[in-house]
Amino acid sequence: MAFQRLWTLYFCFFIFAVYLLDTVESIKWLSLQHSHLNWNVSSINNNHGRGIRSGVRSPCTLARRRYGLVKIQAKLCRSSMEAMPHIQNAASLAADTCRKVFRDRRWNCSSITTAPFLTPDLTRATREQAYVYAISSAALTYTLAKACSSGNLHQCTCAGRPNSPNVENFQWGGCGDNVRWASQFAKRFIDNVEKHNLIKKDKTKRAKDKEENIKVLKDDAAFANLHNNRVGRKVISLNLRTQCKCHGVSGSCNIKTCWKALPSIVEIGEQLLQKYTTAKEVSKTMVDRFEVTAGKKLATSDQLVYMSKSPDYCTKDEKLGSFGTVGRHCNVSSTNLDSCRVLCCGRGYQTVVEEKIERCQCKFYNCCYVKCKICRTMTQVYECL
Ligand SMILES: *[C@@H]1O[C@H](CO)[C@@H](O)[C@H](O)[C@H]1NC(C)=O
Ligand SMILES: *[C@@H]1O[C@H](CO)[C@@H](O)[C@H](O)[C@H]1NC(C)=O
Ligand SMILES: *[C@@H]1O[C@H](CO)[C@@H](O)[C@H](O)[C@H]1NC(C)=O
Repeated sequence: MAFQRLWTLYFCFFIFAVYLLDTVESIKWLSLQHSHLNWNVSSINNNHGRGIRSGVRSPCTLARRRYGLVKIQAKLCRSSMEAMPHIQNAASLAADTCRKVFRDRRWNCSSITTAPFLTPDLTRATREQAYVYAISSAALTYTLAKACSSGNLHQCTCAGRPNSPNVENFQWGGCGDNVRWASQFAKRFIDNVEKHNLIKKDKTKRAKDKEENIKVLKDDAAFANLHNNRVGRKVISLNLRTQCKCHGVSGSCNIKTCWKALPSIVEIGEQLLQKYTTAKEVSKTMVDRFEVTAGKKLATSDQLVYMSKSPDYCTKDEKLGSFGTVGRHCNVSSTNLDSCRVLCCGRGYQTVVEEKIERCQCKFYNCCYVKCKICRTMTQVYECL
């Protein structure tokens, strides 16, 4: 009897787990930032076909189980394993950039760290979600484009020559960042997941299911997500800039070779922050209307879109994915978003003296020893109440 009950329990849990896995969000791959999977292609190839027998699972299977890759992504992982370390780097790059850009704000992008478990700030189709989707697809495009031009990815090469004609003492050469290839790969890796959501939505609609609001919103969010992914990729392609190198006798710049390269990712992150502040709210009816055109004209391709208003992130509210700002460090001399007035939402702050212990006054002895003293310094920090 007890055995049977246990089975029922297992079965229910299994169904529940399947349901959870089925409601996919295409930024779950960001959890690869924490992975220690071995993507070494040659060691995988040695193991080819004997994965299960030898007890070694393919890293793609593990990535699917532990790091939120969905079926389509795991498939792409298997066919393009060489790209996986770069995808993993892209996950870290997206997370670091988001945290850096939002460091001083009430919503500081800390929730990107918990992927594949996403808090409601990243599932309710908020403005913050729009940013995270855009920076993720931008970071993936960026990383792959750089991997192509640095020769670290054999599936792609340098970018093709730009179309514009050579000018006097200037010729296209070198190795440009291959945004075109990267963009297509990023689209396959990320967008297909959302498209899968859309197809599912279509099915449920035909079945005339009465769905809960949340579920409907989730499916509609797929339109917003797809759009924001596209915005992220476009920002990358618009940021290709001409870089040149001089050749010629004794440092003269008689001949110049030029190619197109991408700026730092933080610059991209800042541009997307601009779009975050001017993001456009789209309603469910708008989405329904544009569904006919596959969501293509939801907004211009320069605009991020969101569907739910964000809270002010001042107080803790788990249902909304707001962590609150209690205990955050604010800046008393600032007048910006990190000022104590804005960051602490008018609740005030307390002054805390923190002791820092550092190695200091280091000196070299003979040739090879370094000896340091231990210094204690007191610094004041201001914590939101
Ligand atoms: C990958 O695996 C091969 C063989 O197993 C090994 O020789 C090589 O050093 C590994 N490369 C890296 C980067 O770990
Ligand atoms: C970001 O915000 C969270 C929640 O308020 C906080 O726990 C975390 O320390 C903050 N991170 C930084 C770097 O300020
Ligand atoms: C506080 O803000 C001021 C003015 O914006 C800035 O110069 C200073 O570096 C900030 N201090 C810290 C600890 O961030």
